[in-house]
Amino acid sequence: MKTTNFTKRMFAAGAAGIMALSLTACGGGDSGGGDAGAGGDSGGGDGDLISVGFSQVGAESGWRAANTKSIQDTLTEENGFDLSFSDAQQKQENQIQAIRSYIAQGVDVIAFSPVVESGWDAVLEEAKAADIPVVLTDRSVDSQDETLYESFIGSDFVLEGETAGKWVVDNLGSEPLNVVELQGTTGAAPAVDRKAGFESAIEGNPNIKIIASQTGNFTRTEGRQVMEGFLQANPDIDLVYAHNDDMGLGAIEAIEAAGLQPGVDIKIVTIDAVKDGMQALVDGKINYIVECNPLLGPDLADIIKDVVAGNPVEKRIVVEDKAFDQAAAAEALPTREY
Ligand code: AHR
Repeated sequence: MKTTNFTKRMFAAGAAGIMALSLTACGGGDSGGGDAGAGGDSGGGDGDLISVGFSQVGAESGWRAANTKSIQDTLTEENGFDLSFSDAQQKQENQIQAIRSYIAQGVDVIAFSPVVESGWDAVLEEAKAADIPVVLTDRSVDSQDETLYESFIGSDFVLEGETAGKWVVDNLGSEPLNVVELQGTTGAAPAVDRKAGFESAIEGNPNIKIIASQTGNFTRTEGRQVMEGFLQANPDIDLVYAHNDDMGLGAIEAIEAAGLQPGVDIKIVTIDAVKDGMQALVDGKINYIVECNPLLGPDLADIIKDVVAGNPVEKRIVVEDKAFDQAAAAEALPTREY
């Protein structure tokens, strides 16, 4: 298992330009070509470009918007790619359809962020039979057959949940604490893992109780709606644990509409650390955020180039994340990239 240091690289001076240069240099000669032992021809694109079919989860959150931008800004023709991009609108059937279409097109590499963990084996076997390598990004699949994909790059979602839970234990766990949980999309890796990580961190603390837990599908609108229901059903909520910033921001709206002060009357812990979330943290409406870094484009580009060149790639590449309390957020926000 490898841990990426791409964050440092991205924040280095003139990140985009330097990245473009280094990728061109690394790709060198024919290695950027689409027929270097993986995937047959270039899928209809320019022969010097690597054709990539990318199926994105959707546009459900600020995190997703930043992730899409990172991928589209990196997998450019200048950097040696011919990118076909599709938005699955958070539906697995749309992703399967997109992947089948990329197989039919004969792209060099398929990359995707699976909306849910299960149910991918059949389409991944089709890609394998067509000799098209697959790279998983952001989220993984629960397949038992690791030969169905080349590499998975993304954060450690269990660790993110544990980090959130540990902060709650350390800072609020000395008194009774009623927690409501806004879960991500049902069956999605970050929803499953962030729940498990948080629960394992608070286990053993008799004061902390999760009194309600429901999906808000990673969106602000559903986060608000679910929080409204929680507030109606439970008069004594002390803390919201939201699996992403957007649902936490929706919860803030519901809490304020109920005449309560978010961050004070009801504490809030979220995951992502996108700009809107960080601003709410600085404003005192959120109490703690665990980062999930969405800037996966540059590392994804490197992995794809290696796969096409026939170089060995790590099966699992873990993205390092930080965490922010209100003081740390105030320091980081002015230079925050997403
Ligand atoms: O898979 C990453 C998660 O998906 C992000 O935390 C969330 O905002 C997004 O929708």
